[in-house]
Amino acid sequence: MSHDERELARTQREHWQRTYDQNPGMYGAAPSEPAVHAAAAFRAAGAREVLELGAGHGRDALYFAREGFSVLATDFSPVGLAQLRAAAEARQVAGRVTTAVHDVRQPLPPAAASVDAVFAHMLLCMALSTEEIHALVAEVRRVLRPGGVFVYTVRHTGDAHYGAGIGHGDDTWEHGGFAVHFFSRELVEALGAGWRSVDVHPFEEGELPRRLWRITQVLPG
Ligand SMILES: C[S@@+](CC[C@H](N)C(=O)[O-])C[C@H]1O[C@@H](n2cnc3c(N)ncnc32)[C@H](O)[C@@H]1O
Repeated sequence: MSHDERELARTQREHWQRTYDQNPGMYGAAPSEPAVHAAAAFRAAGAREVLELGAGHGRDALYFAREGFSVLATDFSPVGLAQLRAAAEARQVAGRVTTAVHDVRQPLPPAAASVDAVFAHMLLCMALSTEEIHALVAEVRRVLRPGGVFVYTVRHTGDAHYGAGIGHGDDTWEHGGFAVHFFSRELVEALGAGWRSVDVHPFEEGELPRRLWRITQVLPG
């Protein structure tokens, strides 16, 4: 990692910590649209356990738990995860939710071929280099069992914020302190190589609106 990448990673972690501290529960309590889709896809594949990356304060982790899945929710923000645990207690699903502070630049915690399903809403499009994104998807592949399902979402190059704000190179642009790696179709295709049933679904979220793709891909069984 270059000095600039290390510095960006450090400032982004601090920014997310501060953001959750100042705006508890900022994404609301309702699940995201991709989480609702993912729960159906995970159930159809016989999944019981879900690994969520970049879970934040847990609107989706808590939904998966309410739907009967066991969830390992990870994020590099201890503040977000503390809010997630408090909400899990309040909604009486704490028994099905475990949290772990984890930076996705590091190897994923689970053992090889031990996870049924992986979910990551707006995590792969954080301030990660193309190389780090490829390494992360290789890690998802390592921890998923054969036939396991990976659902992730990313903001893409059709988003209004693409090409605006502070440019960091590698399709990464910063607005209001948040750095986003906007995905090209080529990157999505490269990440899906060797997986089966790669499905790319466009959708929008929030007020801008953010323009995203939801990608569902299955590890060969
Ligand atoms: C756009 S938010 C989405 C949060 C959550 N998925 C949701 O939709 O409610 C991105 C999340 O990724 C986390 N994050 C960003 N970079 C990360 C990294 N390198 N490792 C782990 N988490 C990271 C942030 O702390 C934040 O919670």
